[in-house]
Formats: sequence, structure tokens, C-alpha cells
Amino acid sequence: MSTADFVVVANRLPVDRNTDGGDGGEWRRSPGGLVTALEPVMRSTEGAWVGWPGKADLEFEPFEFDGMHLVPVPLSADDVADYYEGFSNDTIWPLYHDVIAAPRYRRNWWEAYQRVNLRFAEATAAIAAEGGTVWVQDYQLQLVPKLLRDMRPDLTIGYFHHIPFPAYGLYSQLPWRKQVLEGLLGADVIGFQRVADAGNFARAVRRQLRYETRASGIRVPTSDGGHRTALAKAFPISISTDDYIELAQRPDIQARAAEIREDLGNPKKVLLGVDRLDYTKGIRHRLKAFGELIEDGRLSVEDVTLVQVASPSRERVESYVQLRDEIELTVARINGDNDTWGHSAIRYMHQAFPREEMVALYLAADVMLVTALRDGMNLVAKEYVASRVDNKGVLVLSEFAGAADELASAVRINPHDIDGLKDAIVRAVEMPTAEQGRRMRALRKRVREHDVDDWSRLFLDALTAAARGHGVTTRSVSTVDEEQREA
Ligand code: G6P
Repeated sequence: MSTADFVVVANRLPVDRNTDGGDGGEWRRSPGGLVTALEPVMRSTEGAWVGWPGKADLEFEPFEFDGMHLVPVPLSADDVADYYEGFSNDTIWPLYHDVIAAPRYRRNWWEAYQRVNLRFAEATAAIAAEGGTVWVQDYQLQLVPKLLRDMRPDLTIGYFHHIPFPAYGLYSQLPWRKQVLEGLLGADVIGFQRVADAGNFARAVRRQLRYETRASGIRVPTSDGGHRTALAKAFPISISTDDYIELAQRPDIQARAAEIREDLGNPKKVLLGVDRLDYTKGIRHRLKAFGELIEDGRLSVEDVTLVQVASPSRERVESYVQLRDEIELTVARINGDNDTWGHSAIRYMHQAFPREEMVALYLAADVMLVTALRDGMNLVAKEYVASRVDNKGVLVLSEFAGAADELASAVRINPHDIDGLKDAIVRAVEMPTAEQGRRMRALRKRVREHDVDDWSRLFLDALTAAARGHGVTTRSVSTVDEEQREA
């Protein structure tokens, strides 16, 4: 392929290298939702995807995979340590999640972040066709929009921020706060999960750069003394709802759900937590509340089991190593104090499972606990709701997850309020089926009406409109082709 009209740029490629076999490995599609969302538009536009292959020092020529053109950006071991584990996940991640863990501001990490963002921008500039559209994803690449605009003013550039954007009082800690804002403002459309995130961003721009903002528009000065308008707006991400519904209706998956309950010793109620093992997810708060409920005698181990799936994540970053130790200690203590021979209080899995197994788990769970202290969206909440084709089950949802803006019929909690969380868990466990059904139907309506195709279509339509606004004629890029939309 020489050039592409549509290019996605993300830290990771949508594939993993499976090296288990020892024969150099083969590519597998990674499970993430983003690739599912963008696959239709990638196919219809013969688009390209620029990203890191996921392991240090892997160098590959661009290749075709599943109808997508993939352009690998290699990272050395130092790049991984300083750009990915350091600046992305030990500076930006904790800062943007309300400093739940202390961000570390290290100048050599910032150097690496600039260097690697430049490499991504160069790879993108080389593959994007004249007048093409580029969609940059997430906090690892905040400098790419401006770098790319400087190299290729002909391009239409979108950026989507998957994580929260913090309040100004926190954001202003960042030693490189101006450069990061300028980096993002290189985009024509800057998408956020919540209205509040877009508001926090606009405020930071006003305070730091003194640019004017009006509604969602930001006036950005240009090098020729004029200005252009960048749009900063909420586009809440979603899931491929139909895929979850389809899986949840499969008899083998429903049978698997029954089998899971049996394997757990047929407790009356199954509670479930599913998270990347991350300090933003409030796993400790959840365990504390559950442990106290058993100690208080309000829940009994004979009747209730908590399944906690915590998938391994960022295992070389110190705060993640510590978190894992704390959680595993807590689980062992609660189980040690409360288990009977036949029943365990908590079944803890430090593993990742395929989507089929996750849907079976969702179907097996009477109560889903999403207790994030801060979360951009939380797609697990939406996956649970989509999977409950039987209109049963209760979603307990933190107010601090982006999903809470949309999923108003969940049982809402403040995870810092342990007593309130305990009461909410008991309420969920005891909720009559009729009330479960009322709430679940309302939740499902939202997730059916706003799925991930809808998300990408709204974003790309805004991007096409923005491009027209600054006089660029681009072919409209959309996830669903016109024919499909008519149908
Ligand atoms: C969050 C971020 C993504 C990231 C994912 C997994 O959802 O918004 O950008 O890819 O976590 O984290 P990892 O560090 O493994 O890519």
C-alpha cells in the first residue's frame, strides 16, 4: 500500500504477537473494543493503523491483517520504560485519574514521550494520503495532533481521549501543561468521554493559553496570524452491543453460566467484579465493603460469593506491583477468616478470559460491582447490561465512572463511602425481580441505542463537518456505509 485516506494512530496495534509456540510467533487480533469499533470503517476506506506491536524491540515491515493495513512503530526497551511505563502510565495516568496514585514528574520521561510521539507522527505522515483523515487515540499520543499538523497541514485530524481529563487544579501540576494542551489542539476535533472532561480541557486552555472558547469551539491561533476553530466535545464511547446480545443468547454460553454457578457451589447470589488490575478501579474498596458485610453477618459465605476477575496490567510499574500485593493479601485474609470447606467468600482470578467466558460470567452474576474511583467510561458496566438479555441482574455503579452519566438506572454509589457501598450491595442482593427488570430494561435501552458504531459515526461526522468548515474537502468517512444505514 502506498498511502491511505483514513489512518488510525494508537499506542497499540490491534493485534498481539503470539510467541508461545517458540517459532517466532504469529499475529492474533487483540481483544480490545477499539478494533471492533473501527474495523468497518477501516475496511470500507482501506484504512491504515499505526501502532506499537506491544513488545520491546519488535521490528516489522508494514503488513496486511484481516483487511487492515498495519504500520508497526517499534519501541526500544528504554522507550517502553520511559515513554510507556514512565510518562504515559506513571505521570499522565495517575494525574488524569485525580492523583489516586501520586504522579511522578521525571524530565527524562518527558523527553522520551516527545521523542516517541514524534516517531508516531512521522510514521503517520508517511502513510496518510493527501487530504486524508487521521484519528489519533488516547493519552499516550497527546502531542501527535500538533506534530502531525505541522508536518501535514492538508490532513484532517481527530483525537479521542479515552480517559478522564482532570480538573484544572490538578492538571496545572503538570510541568509540561502548556505543551500538552498545544499538542492536543493540533486536532480539528478533540473528543472526550464526558461533558465534564471537555469542560475541564476548555478551562485549562483558557487559563494556560488564554485562547477564547465559545460553546465547544476553541479559537486556536495559526502561524499566519489568523486562527482556526478546534472542537472539544463529549462523545461517550460504547461497545458492540449486538455482539454481546448474540453471545448471551447462545445456548452453550447460557449452559456455561449455569456450570460456573455450579462450580462455585451454587451460592444463592453471585457478585462479580471485572477489572484490569488498576488502582483506579476501587477494587480495595469493594473488597473492604464485602469483607465487612460478611464479618457483620449481613451476608453469609454459604449464600454469597464474590468473583473478582483482575486481569494483569502494567506489571512493571511500581504502583501496580504494590496494588497487586495489597489486593492479594486482602483476598487471602478475607477468605482465610471466612471460608468454609464448601464455600469461598471470594474467588479471585488474576487472569484474562475470552469474550465468550466473560459473557457466561455476566450471565452467572446476580450483581455486578463497578466501584471505580475514577474511570473514563468503564465498558464492563455496559458489557454486563448488554449481556443481560433476561432483564435480570443488578448493576452497582460508581458515580466516578464516565458510564454513570448514561446509566442512570443503576444503583449508584460513592466508593469512598464504605457504609453507603455496603448498604448498596445488600440492596442489590435483596432487590426483587420486578425492580431488577425495570432498571435493567432502562439500562439496556441506552446501550442498545448508543453502541460503538454510533460513537465512531458521531465522531467522524463531526470531523468531516470540521474539515468542511476549514475549507478542506474530504470524502466523508463513516463506520457504516450508506446502504447499511438505510437498512
Ligand atoms: C485504558 C486506556 C487504553 C489502554 C488500556 C490498556 O483503557 O484508555 O489506552 O490501551 O487501558 O492498557 P495498556 O497499558 O495495556 O495498553
